[in-house]
Amino acid sequence: MAKSITLGVVGAGTIADFHFKAWAQSKTHIAVVSDVNRERAEPYLRAFGAAYVADYHGVIASADVNVVVCLTPSKFHYEIVKGALDAGKHVICEKTLTLSAAESLELARLAKKKGLLLFTSYMKRFFPAVKKAKELMPALGHITSVYAWTYQGMGMDIQTGEIPESCRRIGGGDSAVKQLIGGGILVAGGSHILDLLLYLVGRPQRTVGMVHRRPGLDVDFLAHAMMQLPTGGVVHLEANWHPLRKIGYEQRGWDEGLEVSGVNGRLIVRTPVWNQPEHNAAQLSFYDNQAQTWTDFRFDIVNPFVEAEAYFLSCIAAGRQDDYDPYVGYRVDHLLELIQMSSDHGGLVDVRWEDEGG
Ligand SMILES: NC(=O)c1ccc[n+]([C@@H]2O[C@H](COP(=O)([O-])OP(=O)(O)OC[C@H]3O[C@@H](n4cnc5c(N)ncnc54)[C@H](O)[C@@H]3O)[C@@H](O)[C@H]2O)c1
Repeated sequence: MAKSITLGVVGAGTIADFHFKAWAQSKTHIAVVSDVNRERAEPYLRAFGAAYVADYHGVIASADVNVVVCLTPSKFHYEIVKGALDAGKHVICEKTLTLSAAESLELARLAKKKGLLLFTSYMKRFFPAVKKAKELMPALGHITSVYAWTYQGMGMDIQTGEIPESCRRIGGGDSAVKQLIGGGILVAGGSHILDLLLYLVGRPQRTVGMVHRRPGLDVDFLAHAMMQLPTGGVVHLEANWHPLRKIGYEQRGWDEGLEVSGVNGRLIVRTPVWNQPEHNAAQLSFYDNQAQTWTDFRFDIVNPFVEAEAYFLSCIAAGRQDDYDPYVGYRVDHLLELIQMSSDHGGLVDVRWEDEGG
């Protein structure tokens, strides 16, 4: 029998709004919301009839809550997710799962050991274009090459121009951007595109990275990585915070996707700007070499946050996690760390996967 679900939410900032909208649609029961800043939680307390606690331990300790959703800045994810799992709660956590692959691996293992479900929310998997691409992947045959890119418009030239306030160190400490997401474009955009790579294509076995920063800037704005697939195909990842205002298929400075080539064809997926998915659907084009035809698939516009939440909650209700396993967050964090490590120390790095199934 499906379990009933009661959420406890930690963090009521920018990303939380997308999740709360999804829960409003699905009429999900929310017992308690925590934010260190009460004002940020306030609108959701009223809308969902939820209680407020300032300290997230109150969410974890709540007997009513069986699922904890962690939406705080990434640097707090480890302690909150660990606390929730230790208390026997299922967890949905915004990406990235933590700021360290070792911590993400530990959390996934803990969830497995305790028989709990852990989802790191990479919502872009839930675009219909991505789901259809997954279905078409076998038709490509042996994969020879992947180009995966995320160009995010900054509205300014961060590469040679003035460094934005949000990327400047505060006192001797980290910049606001680093404090929020734990890095620059590699973590912000690269994480999503690495998740799509892992989901659609599979796990690379070696990588080399080049990650660029500037003096005075504590986050990267340009990152490249070459990765080798076990079957010999090569992946090129590019993540770029840039000033070009009209690039991308929506012509609004957002240009992100994957081009996957195999011996039997090619597919190209493009995603819309992350925070306004209501304007355009993700796109998919597919080339079939045998028929020598291109097909441009067009999809209804869907909000991937709504789809992702519906999926996670249905899995929790049914008590199963399927292929969206608890190691999803670890795998991305592992690649992010190795790309950075290769860039810092030079050279090709072997990827040793420590999750189950190798
Ligand atoms: N999926 C995506 O595309 C996407 C986009 C943006 C952000 N994110 C992720 O979402 C997370 C949050 O980002 P955001 O932009 O919403 O940040 P934000 O700063 O707007 O919101 C975070 C909220 O958490 C609260 N908070 C901080 N520490 C807390 C604690 N210990 N207990 C309770 N509340 C606490 C803050 O007061 C704030 O209201 C990050 O991990 C980020 O990487 C994902």
